[in-house]
Amino acid sequence: MKITMIGSGYVGLVSGACFADFGHDVICVDSDESKIARLKRGEIPIYEPGLDELVANNVKQNRLSFTTDLAPAVKGADAVFIAVGTPSRRGDGHADLSYVYAAAKTIAGALEGFTVVVNKSTVPVGTGDEVERIIREANPKADFAVVSNPEFLREGAAIEDFKRPDRVVIGVEEPRAREVMEEIYRPLSLNAPPLVFVGRRTSELTKYAANAFLATKITFINEIADLCEKVGADVQEVARGIGLDKRIGGKFLHAGPGYGGSCFPKDTLALIKTGQDEGSSLRIVETVVAVNDARKRAMARKIIVALGGSVRGKKIALLGLAFKPNTDDMRDAPSLAIVASLAGDGAQVHAYDPESMDQARPLMPEVTFHDDPYAALEGAEAVAIVTEWDAFRALDLDRVKSLLKQPIVVDLRNVYRPADLRKRGFTYISVGRK
Ligand code: UDX
Repeated sequence: MKITMIGSGYVGLVSGACFADFGHDVICVDSDESKIARLKRGEIPIYEPGLDELVANNVKQNRLSFTTDLAPAVKGADAVFIAVGTPSRRGDGHADLSYVYAAAKTIAGALEGFTVVVNKSTVPVGTGDEVERIIREANPKADFAVVSNPEFLREGAAIEDFKRPDRVVIGVEEPRAREVMEEIYRPLSLNAPPLVFVGRRTSELTKYAANAFLATKITFINEIADLCEKVGADVQEVARGIGLDKRIGGKFLHAGPGYGGSCFPKDTLALIKTGQDEGSSLRIVETVVAVNDARKRAMARKIIVALGGSVRGKKIALLGLAFKPNTDDMRDAPSLAIVASLAGDGAQVHAYDPESMDQARPLMPEVTFHDDPYAALEGAEAVAIVTEWDAFRALDLDRVKSLLKQPIVVDLRNVYRPADLRKRGFTYISVGRK
């Protein structure tokens, strides 16, 4: 199949490279000239394990190429995927669809032969209808079908998630488009994930419902963690105890500083807006968003309380800034709120993250960055583990203790066992554990 991928961000680049690896002929388009120039030189603009090799291999096999020139890339394609950003519109939380609609308009004039236009971006219900209207209006003679095919990949595990998905959701309204989609995903049949064919609106809503449900699961266990601290229970044991029930499932029950990232925060807001617009409020999701926002600030409070109620003039070390490990992504990372609260209370914040410091620097000018975790700890009154990078799971604890002014560890990701750290003489504070 000849596939055009519009948008070479996270989803577009990973999907494009994986489709090429399936054996399809893929061209990735982006309007950002410097990004395309870097990709052509073999540089990957994002940090994603394994992506550099995957891109290089498929470029070498002539199955993957990059361009800024959209029209020729669309001509003769079997499927054109739209994988552009749908950020929160400033002020109201609605998804900003201007990039999606602009892509639709540009595609319209270049269509040649029957083409399936696939929305891979996360888009509110009804966007497929609007994309269809825009293309039809711009090119009444075009032979095309608009399909919804949301992406469920997680950053840091994107290639594995793409190639071994639990399911592929495809919203189609006509049989010709379904055949093309079946052909595109045929190479997945080795692992036999279900291809869930549904109506286009159902597919669009499924993506939001999945993300909102996962955000709810995390927020639920975070509130249970708070209660565990009050009553002397252990949240990890509670999570295991409920997660072994197959109806609940053990994943996404890891208590921490609140969810962040490029998807959950913006998608929960957009879903809330859709509910409000339709007069069908999603009160659970509204509460999840409010609880999660408050939680990030509460994590800074935890650090402040550990230091006796004030951090004025005190040096605090943070290990990890990205919203989760194996990514350099800082979007809606809990560290942003934690740094703002600590610095607001007069702390001197020092930090280290293995990958995200270039992204973090402009977002947190008050922070002093270090190239090594131990350098960040030197002379600090306390260290907080904010992101659970593997590198922080096996710190040299004797060295940590000797570098800190006070042996206080605030572990917001429950990386360590409380008994181990206490035995070594640390004051150890974690999430939802005694
Ligand atoms: C998420 C969805 O998982 C994915 O299906 C969708 O396509 C995009 O959004 P991603 O944002 O990459 O993926 O990361 P994910 O691993 O889901 O983590 C999201 C946030 O939740 C992170 O901040 C993470 O630290 C937090 N989280 C996750 C928890 O706090 N506890 C958990 O148990 C799981």
